[in-house]
Amino acid sequence: MSFEPQPFVRLADPVKDAAPLFDVCRKTVGPALRAGTPNLIAPYIWNVPYIRLCPEYCFAVDDGNGNAVGYVICAPDTPEFVKQWREEYLPILESLDPLLKKPEMDLPADWGKDLTLGVLQLLYNPEDMLHDACPRLVEEYPAHLHIDILPDYQRRGFGRKLMDALWDRLREAGVKGVHLVMEGRNVDAERFYMAIGYSRFDEVVDDGKSGERGKDVNGNLWMVKKL
Ligand SMILES: CC(C)(COP(=O)(O)OP(=O)(O)OC[C@H]1O[C@@H](n2cnc3c(N)ncnc32)[C@H](O)[C@@H]1OP(=O)(O)O)[C@@H](O)C(=O)NCCC(=O)NCCS
Repeated sequence: MSFEPQPFVRLADPVKDAAPLFDVCRKTVGPALRAGTPNLIAPYIWNVPYIRLCPEYCFAVDDGNGNAVGYVICAPDTPEFVKQWREEYLPILESLDPLLKKPEMDLPADWGKDLTLGVLQLLYNPEDMLHDACPRLVEEYPAHLHIDILPDYQRRGFGRKLMDALWDRLREAGVKGVHLVMEGRNVDAERFYMAIGYSRFDEVVDDGKSGERGKDVNGNLWMVKKL
């Protein structure tokens, strides 16, 4: 008799899972970043630093054969994470990949025309994560996260299981709230977050442009949850 391997959620291994999780990020990033150089850089913003700097808050979906096919990754203390990003991560970037050369920071990136410059500027400006114009976000919800699962493993309950594992870990550490910033047009993700207990941040944060709560000037949504 043969048994199908059963996928399950476990703590991510910062060494063994690093390459597969990098790959999950490349394959699941928003459509605009899914090709070319921006696709090679994206995981260095939305994946690698979390696994390097706070692996104890990173969980993987294991396909049952030891392969990581999804993750939730989290910084439990966003200001501390920003500091570590600047002091420990930025100095080693160019040694990880020559593509990650520090860009001209004075040039305002025109995302429509030069995505590569845009992502490099994000990479070299971790202070964006503090949302200085609205400090209440990080004060009330100090942790932040990213979650991505390969298509074959989506809509099978693993997103919820990853979150449950992360929330337990954050609660054990006494963290009082978690936030995330997502692309406004990713309606499937918004439905997922609402289904599992997140809500929109309760302030208008785009100077009244949309009038919607928790939608920033770039059209991104701020989702929050108290723990
Ligand atoms: C978004 C994502 C993490 C959700 O994980 P998932 O494993 O597919 O979600 P689950 O199966 O655990 O679903 C949990 C709940 O959310 C609901 N849900 C998930 N996707 C949904 C959708 N598209 N529409 C409506 N409800 C949805 C499920 O019905 C379920 O609710 P229930 O438990 O009450 O039945 C995953 O689909 C994914 O990685 N998508 C691509 C990358 C992405 O968009 N990442 C988020 C970037 S911000």
